[in-house]
Amino acid sequence: MAIEIRTISEEELERAHFLLAYAFTGDRSEQGRMRHVESMGTAFALHDDGEMAACLRIFPLRMFMHGATIPLGGVCGVASLPEHRRKGYAGQLLRHALAAMREEGQPLSALHTPHPSLYRRYGWMFASSAVRYSFNPKEIAPVNQGLPEGGAYRITEEQWPTIADLYRRFAAPRNGYLDRDERWWKEGIFRRIYDEKRHLNDIAVWADGDGQPRGYLVYGSTSEQRPGGLPTGRTDAEELVALDASAYVGLLRYLLAHDLADQVGMWGPADEPFSLAIDEPWRVKREHFFGFMLRIVDVEKAIAARPPAADAPEAAFTVHITDAAAPWNQGAWRIECSGPAGRGGRLSAAKAKGTADLSTDAAVFAAMYNGYLRPTEAVRSGLAEAGDSDAAALADRILAADYPPYPSDAF
Ligand SMILES: CC(C)(COP(=O)(O)OP(=O)(O)OC[C@H]1O[C@@H](n2cnc3c(N)ncnc32)[C@H](O)[C@@H]1OP(=O)(O)O)[C@@H](O)C(=O)NCCC(=O)NCCS
Repeated sequence: MAIEIRTISEEELERAHFLLAYAFTGDRSEQGRMRHVESMGTAFALHDDGEMAACLRIFPLRMFMHGATIPLGGVCGVASLPEHRRKGYAGQLLRHALAAMREEGQPLSALHTPHPSLYRRYGWMFASSAVRYSFNPKEIAPVNQGLPEGGAYRITEEQWPTIADLYRRFAAPRNGYLDRDERWWKEGIFRRIYDEKRHLNDIAVWADGDGQPRGYLVYGSTSEQRPGGLPTGRTDAEELVALDASAYVGLLRYLLAHDLADQVGMWGPADEPFSLAIDEPWRVKREHFFGFMLRIVDVEKAIAARPPAADAPEAAFTVHITDAAAPWNQGAWRIECSGPAGRGGRLSAAKAKGTADLSTDAAVFAAMYNGYLRPTEAVRSGLAEAGDSDAAALADRILAADYPPYPSDAF
């Protein structure tokens, strides 16, 4: 049995479509083929005796954190055919992908999955979360009753630069938002990335009293006829970006004006102020979801790319990382915050000798990296070990995040 892993060629894309459609959508016809996705990243396949048995794709992405934009390999479309499952093929592809991302200069990787234990084996870990609010728009109102000056208008995809500018100002200082390019705006925001019919989302911009854009809402609506003849609807707000109170309140009112919908859904980060900005929070259902799993592909480069915590002291700690799937990360690292204290400083990681202050595995370290899991909490829960409890507290201070990590994009 000969196993070979290689990049999927143009001629092999049809076979890859069969494999992906078999695993995910069920629509193996030409209409179900997502050609827009095929050209958006590099795909690899594992061939067993010349037959394509498993595949995955890597989107070349970037993630914002504390003002930095860090290259990230977005892993998606991981699939194997049922007759080839549990032979270790997805695992072999993931190891191959880690080496490929390192080669490409992507120190981070992220993915979305319903199989966290699979990916945790290979060093990915849940490291972001989102809250979904569901409500009947007739049952709640903004607490801020004043009518903001300004107004909303819908835009077409050719006007994407308007919202891209607002998004960048909003997202760059935050944590986990993707740094989107034109293609991503058109394929992944104006449309849902895995909608093979390529339906357009609605996007409304809020302009202030001077006509300046200050925020926007990405949403979509569906409706169906009830047997009794009354239509019922659903509106889903996928992204609300507001740079100030006038945009926040204006766009909230705009969303609540969709009063044919008996259900409105809205997504936001863990620190989203929505519940407190409406009069009857208890009428809103709040559900917490995991977002992306994060992976440190290259410890040295990932640490150097991540700005330290706002109040980070000039100091260092050592951490031993166990990483069988990316052996270049395995071992003890000295993580140092140098230069002016706080945001003016920089982080660096260098291989260290001797016993480390902390020890953990690559997956847990990924969740510490972006501030999703405090090192002291990792130690308290047995996810990490500390020879020196002061070192864990110091790691907390150096790796603290300004905002809770949020999965801005599904891919
Ligand atoms: C999930 C899927 C890709 C796994 O492929 P596979 O080739 O069977 O996986 P592997 O044999 O390489 O398994 C690697 C390891 O993960 C474990 N694993 C495999 N599938 C798993 C799952 N669904 N949940 C948890 N662990 C899983 C295996 O037991 C193995 O662990 P081990 O090395 O300790 O024995 C495959 O079942 C599939 O295509 N499913 C449908 C599409 C899908 O869900 N894709 C993933 C979306 S993120």
